Amino acid sequence: MPNDLPAVLHLSGVPNPKQKLFFAATARHIAYGGARGGGKSWAMRRKFVLLAFRYSGLNLLLLRRTLPELTENHVRPLQKELSGAAEYNQTRREFLFPNGSRIKLGYCDKETDVYQYQGQEYDVIGLEEATHFTEAQMQFLSTCNRSVRSDFSPRMYYTCNPGGVGHAWVKRLFIDRVYRNAECPDDYVFIPAKLSDNPVLMQNNPEYRKTLMNLPEPLRRAHLEGDWDVLMGQYFPEFSREKHTVAPYPIPGEWRRFRAMDWGYNDPCCVLWFAAAPDGRLTVYRELYVRKTLSSAIAREVVRLSDGERIAYTAASPDAWQQRGLGGIEGQTIAEVFQRNGVPLLPADNARIPGWQRVREALAPQSDGRPQIEIFSTCQNLIRTLPLLTFDRHTVEDVSDNCEDHAAEALRYGLMSRPRPAKPDPAAPPLCYDPLDRIRPSAAGYRSL
Ligand SMILES: Nc1ncnc2c1ncn2[C@@H]1O[C@H](COP(=O)(O)OP(=O)(O)OP(=O)(O)O)[C@@H](O)[C@H]1O
Ligand SMILES: [Mg+2]
Repeated sequence: MPNDLPAVLHLSGVPNPKQKLFFAATARHIAYGGARGGGKSWAMRRKFVLLAFRYSGLNLLLLRRTLPELTENHVRPLQKELSGAAEYNQTRREFLFPNGSRIKLGYCDKETDVYQYQGQEYDVIGLEEATHFTEAQMQFLSTCNRSVRSDFSPRMYYTCNPGGVGHAWVKRLFIDRVYRNAECPDDYVFIPAKLSDNPVLMQNNPEYRKTLMNLPEPLRRAHLEGDWDVLMGQYFPEFSREKHTVAPYPIPGEWRRFRAMDWGYNDPCCVLWFAAAPDGRLTVYRELYVRKTLSSAIAREVVRLSDGERIAYTAASPDAWQQRGLGGIEGQTIAEVFQRNGVPLLPADNARIPGWQRVREALAPQSDGRPQIEIFSTCQNLIRTLPLLTFDRHTVEDVSDNCEDHAAEALRYGLMSRPRPAKPDPAAPPLCYDPLDRIRPSAAGYRSL
């Protein structure tokens, strides 16, 4: 503990090695945890107190999603720890320090509750259980995290467990490290911590580990092991990086290749490249995932990426045949633009629920224990978004349309373009039927068949 802390403080405990890393981090966005019991709340509270004493006149805001959580996790412990060292104003719910620093405690129950902080400036903002906050709330709060001080640059601290309404944005920024627009990778630091990193809890309450181990499988993986690929309501809980992704390898020349595309302009457009092994096993070996890109530019990029490859066909979402001003050329459908640029499209089978069922079958282990589909580890957006799909609340067999489902849609179109794997009949001739053979137009316009 630094020497400049007053002796009256009732702070107990010393930080464990992971908490020390959290204390030492100075990036713009610092996240800690990722599993239950890793000492997240303790670390967040202590860091706030240390900062308040270290920098005079510092303005700090510590948030939880609801008031009871805030009271239990922070107001009461801080009242105890700071008694006699900082003054608590109950009405304003803030601690005032002798050096002019201030820790304000707040909650954002409703989506719009964040607007109460509009126009306010905080040098430090902490989101406890950040996955309980929506991305819009986090983005708005970031706009209040600014400072005119020369001795301190504004920072946001996050603690988190997998699951919750904010699972996707926390995972994107801190686990998958996929950045958009002006987001800068160097601004984001994640310090993973599990129960095993918190010796105090492990020693004082060894039963807690057993409690976590007894949770049902997806929750256990999330809360004990900090596995961000599982979450409640997950549409494809069977997906795991370990089982379904492989390091890229050269695709044998005789494997049949095809592509599938989910068209989008404002939303991402995703193109996946598939290769079918002679035994019917599929590999997704490439992805293109772009936003706000003209259809002609995407088509040219698809051609460039496929250079030297024989591609049998490209199945595409039905909206590619609708007239679109944006992303296409006026008066031409997306499909026409693609055709002109060397990528003729075929309308994909868009039966949603049978399509998702097909994806599920492909992820399931075959008789040799391997799934029917494997994904190259370079297909980052497919791997990132597949485990984020959740069930729709109204059509329970479908995927919720609030999800980032563009790569999964392309996967579904690709799988639906293939014959359903059948149990081989030893007496039957080998399967060589491809449903698209019936609807494929003559080779005219096809770049490679
Ligand atoms: N460095 C430490 N020294 C002393 N006690 C600690 C320390 N770190 C954590 N603890 C204690 O360990 C227990 C669990 O810590 P904490 O509540 O911070 O974990 P958490 O990760 O927030 O848990 P949850 O996932 O349930 O929110 C608490 O009783 C806390 O006071
Ligand atoms: Mg906690």
